[in-house]
Amino acid sequence: NWTTGNVIEEQVAAIREQVGDRRAICGLSGGVDSAVAAALVQRAIGSQLTCVYVDHGLMRKGETEQVEKDFVAATGVQLKVVDAEERFLKALAGVSDPEQKRKIIGREFIRVFEQAQAEIIADEGPEVAFLVQGTLYPDVVESGGGTGTANIKSHHNVGGLPEDLEFQLIEPLRKLFKDEVRMVGQELGLPDEIVQRQPFPGPGLGIRIVGEVTKERLDLLRDADAIAREELTAAGLDRDIWQCPVVLLADVRSVGVQGDGRTYGHPIVLRPVSSEDAMTADWSRLPYDVLAKISTRITNEVKDVNRVVLDVTSKPPGTIEWE
Ligand code: XMP
Repeated sequence: NWTTGNVIEEQVAAIREQVGDRRAICGLSGGVDSAVAAALVQRAIGSQLTCVYVDHGLMRKGETEQVEKDFVAATGVQLKVVDAEERFLKALAGVSDPEQKRKIIGREFIRVFEQAQAEIIADEGPEVAFLVQGTLYPDVVESGGGTGTANIKSHHNVGGLPEDLEFQLIEPLRKLFKDEVRMVGQELGLPDEIVQRQPFPGPGLGIRIVGEVTKERLDLLRDADAIAREELTAAGLDRDIWQCPVVLLADVRSVGVQGDGRTYGHPIVLRPVSSEDAMTADWSRLPYDVLAKISTRITNEVKDVNRVVLDVTSKPPGTIEWE
């Protein structure tokens, strides 16, 4: 019979058997899947696991701290944090095209992660043989069910490592659906903010700024996003919506009046959607009073924003994200 307790027990035994006295690495993204996979492997092999978190500076307010503090406190995991904000901002400077942004963020991410991996191997030796991945059952089905090894090319040559590092994969969530992963995470004692987190794209706020990504714009968007999330949570709407991207139209300005002066600021877009699987979506009919509260707070509290607009497009034709 299926219980989270049984799943955990079974996986812990299997992981111990697989790893023996060797070591594993797990990348944390801030999302549910990698967090639960890491917590499960930590339960099985403790300090033989090292987690890596690349802080690309594109996370929402408080999310990096959630990983660094709350996740570590809940699991006792050994964590290597790489502060790569400056590197990402530099690489993104002057770039407005969405596909270009995605490519740059993906490329930098792999480079930084591989470098961190190489450093861990240089520190801990060749017994680092496993890579943990939070692959879920739907991912397995979609990709044809294969499993096995990850061949990581190392461009960095730290401490005379071989050119290609071959890892065996540990995928403890391969038989689980998302809601089951959340239950396992809860049973493992992970905080609600991590376990119940709504989907958030890998490229983060980098693809929620229409226009060039800069530190100032990221900070502004982080403030607006935090307000929207706070009010949606306060209104008890987290379970009703799939996710609510908050988007900064950085290349658009409109005229406004605030206090006793004319302003010329940026609009913030709210994009609340309901969905089953993100393949299709409908715009969420949020209560007007909640929208009003979010709008008032964002225009009062966030510098350079003088207008809040609501996206009322379903998917298709609109995607959930704006980029
Ligand atoms: P779209 O915008 O295509 O988004 O309707 C569908 C779902 O996917 C998420 N999304 C991403 N997730 N990396 C990710 O990990 C990405 O590059 C990415 N782009 C979109 C989006 O948040 C939504 O849940």
